[in-house]
Amino acid sequence: MMSQYGPLVRLSVPGAPVVVATSNADHVRQVMTATLHDPRRHFFLSLKKVRDETPGNYFQGRAGLLPENGAEWWRVRSRVQAPLLQPRSVSRYLPMVDQVAVTFMDRLEGCLSADRQVPDDFLGELYKWALECVGLVALDRSLGCLGPSLPSDHPSVSMIHHINEIFGAVNDTEHGMHSWQHHNKSKAYQRLEHSHNAFLKLAAKCIDESRASLATGKRPVHGTVPTGNSSCTVSGRAGHDGRTVMQTLLETDGLSTSDVATILLDMLIAGVDTTAHCAAFTLYLLARNPSKQRKLQMLIDQELGNQEDGGSLTTENLTRLPYITHILKESLRLFPITTGTNRLLTEDLELSGYRIPAGTLVFGCMTQMSRDERYFRDASQFIPERWERSRPHGPIHPYASLPFSHGKRMCIGKRIAEQEIYTLLVRVLQRYDVTFNSTEEMKVQTQVVLKPDIRLAFKFTHRK
Ligand code: HEM
Repeated sequence: MMSQYGPLVRLSVPGAPVVVATSNADHVRQVMTATLHDPRRHFFLSLKKVRDETPGNYFQGRAGLLPENGAEWWRVRSRVQAPLLQPRSVSRYLPMVDQVAVTFMDRLEGCLSADRQVPDDFLGELYKWALECVGLVALDRSLGCLGPSLPSDHPSVSMIHHINEIFGAVNDTEHGMHSWQHHNKSKAYQRLEHSHNAFLKLAAKCIDESRASLATGKRPVHGTVPTGNSSCTVSGRAGHDGRTVMQTLLETDGLSTSDVATILLDMLIAGVDTTAHCAAFTLYLLARNPSKQRKLQMLIDQELGNQEDGGSLTTENLTRLPYITHILKESLRLFPITTGTNRLLTEDLELSGYRIPAGTLVFGCMTQMSRDERYFRDASQFIPERWERSRPHGPIHPYASLPFSHGKRMCIGKRIAEQEIYTLLVRVLQRYDVTFNSTEEMKVQTQVVLKPDIRLAFKFTHRK
């Protein structure tokens, strides 16, 4: 539509607010600035309805960070900002997340074919890695996702299945007609209700167990990551001011136990497909750009020597590897995980001479902007160096690539996700050369989050 009508497009869907989509980064700046103090998203309405109607009144009318807006959203958000986004509190989890990356690779080694190909369901393996990582931060425990031979009915496998289903069903409920809001429940809505409530049952059990072990002071599962045949307990206390994230949240004034459970639930739902897909896209780009991969390997070797079997990664190690942050930014530019920014205007706004009335949903089309030559020279190329402070490939518009969004409502898991991806890349590239054993170009399935839509034909060969 943008190639037909230009960078500003108005769409009207019955039963939903008018949408104005833009691929102009100045517009995104204007919208983000205008909504800075009351950033409302018009999304996850179906999730809110499901939560409002959950049997047993589990959510007590408060549907959590993902679907809520206004005062109710800020009541929760203002209290979770520090424990989830402060570098200090996230980096305390680094040794555990690092251990997960090492365990993941030990597990992977056992799944590689004779010619070093990853299994067909490599994305499924990445989901397990991502759930294990976010489970450690949210629930203070291992979910056992990386056990040696996981049965298909293992709770963590079921959780992953339900999370995938939730995203698929939300995609259909939110992007289709919103008839489910008024009368009969559509098929998609019923799928969402089913997968959400099944996921809730599994996750609530884990949340209760973790809470109970915190209360008794016995934390038998804390930081325990299964490593092949044995178990490795990572010492040290994680979280904000020495407390774990869960502990901090439970002790925060103004958050009820049910609020905390909802936050943890949202972290699990939002923290699996996103990070796993991002890891897949990043490994793909590195495999397709061997000179960039070699450069990162060389920098990792310089920083860590042959520390592969030694101590765990430190924040200092990562700080001295700025190239890895450039790699992730560039990967998220080319494959941004979400399609764009989503803000409901609370006041009229003028964009390029058009008056956009309050109540309109303005969508910043990131998939368009981040591959636009106006904003990125050689936009289709993977050039991590463009993110160096000196901007050697030209200036970068600060609103043209916002993979974690911006302002008060930006992704609450940004630092958690970054830390997970950095550790995975370091541990993979220390051990392996990664190639892609297919000529097929990456294709993307666009649902709520962008998903790789080709077989992930990676080959992991031991480095000489
Ligand atoms: C590469 C990985 C990830 C990407 C690209 C990503 C991106 C995003 C984006 C674009 C938003 C919308 C923000 C807005 O509307 O302004 C968001 C929200 C959110 N993300 Fe992430 N995310 C990632 C990983 C995670 C992880 C690991 C977690 C869990 C800890 C998480 C939890 C959340 C939550 C709870 C929200 C809702 C925040 C709110 O509305 O206040 N995300 N994310």
